[in-house]
Amino acid sequence: MEVPKHVAIIMDGNGRWATNKGLKRSEGHLEGSKTLEKIALHAMDMGIEVLSVFAFSTDNFKRDKEEVDYLMNLFIKMFKTKFDKIAKKGIKVVFSGRKNNLNNKVMDAMDNMEVKTKDNQRGILNICLNYGGQEEIIDASLKLALDINKGLNIDSFKREDFYKYLYQDLPPIDLLIRTGGELRISNFMLYQLSYSEFYFTNTYFPDFDKSEFNKALFMYQNRDRRYGGINEKNN
Ligand code: IPE
Ligand code: IPE
Ligand code: MG
Repeated sequence: MEVPKHVAIIMDGNGRWATNKGLKRSEGHLEGSKTLEKIALHAMDMGIEVLSVFAFSTDNFKRDKEEVDYLMNLFIKMFKTKFDKIAKKGIKVVFSGRKNNLNNKVMDAMDNMEVKTKDNQRGILNICLNYGGQEEIIDASLKLALDINKGLNIDSFKREDFYKYLYQDLPPIDLLIRTGGELRISNFMLYQLSYSEFYFTNTYFPDFDKSEFNKALFMYQNRDRRYGGINEKNN
């Protein structure tokens, strides 16, 4: 049974989950944060090495101040205290995204999580916060341009070499999951998704439990990945 090395999740549908239950959208985000902790622990139990999750996009700043403030305060609580189990169970937490636009308290909490878990070996949880895929490619290109100015020889520069300029140097994504029913990637990890298998589900993120996650893994195991080549066993 082949386990994907790097799984990514667009954790969508928190707001609709809450609205459908007559609750405030913020209740959906709170429930979603609990789901994230459970799913991260489960993913590592399944042998996945890296889990990347979309927590807040650069474009999510377009939302009402009340919702943005709620999310930022929730992030502070998650990274200061709530994600204790993640730290204790040996998961290393890293972040991807732009640091501008985030207030000091959020950045302190992110630092706290990163420092606390930096020596953990069980797997990596990459939290994409104030993240945009096109922004990441621009930021990476600017870093590469600096290296070229310093004399880097790009004659034999390969697509694999670009990864080290991204926010985190992680393997390509094998499986992308999007909850909440939308069939789009909303500017998520454009570079890393080039040959990913996609799994879309109508389930709202707060309801996305272990068995839903396993369904995505099972689907992945039955996909035929060809990378532009030909799979001999089908010919
Ligand atoms: C995803 O859920 C979480 C964030 C974008 C922060 P949404 O808040 O987008 O939920 P819906 O899509 O409105 O239901
Ligand atoms: C993508 O969801 C961002 C996160 C899950 C954090 P959105 O809800 O922001 O995406 P759109 O607006 O439906 O494309
Ligand atoms: Mg949404």
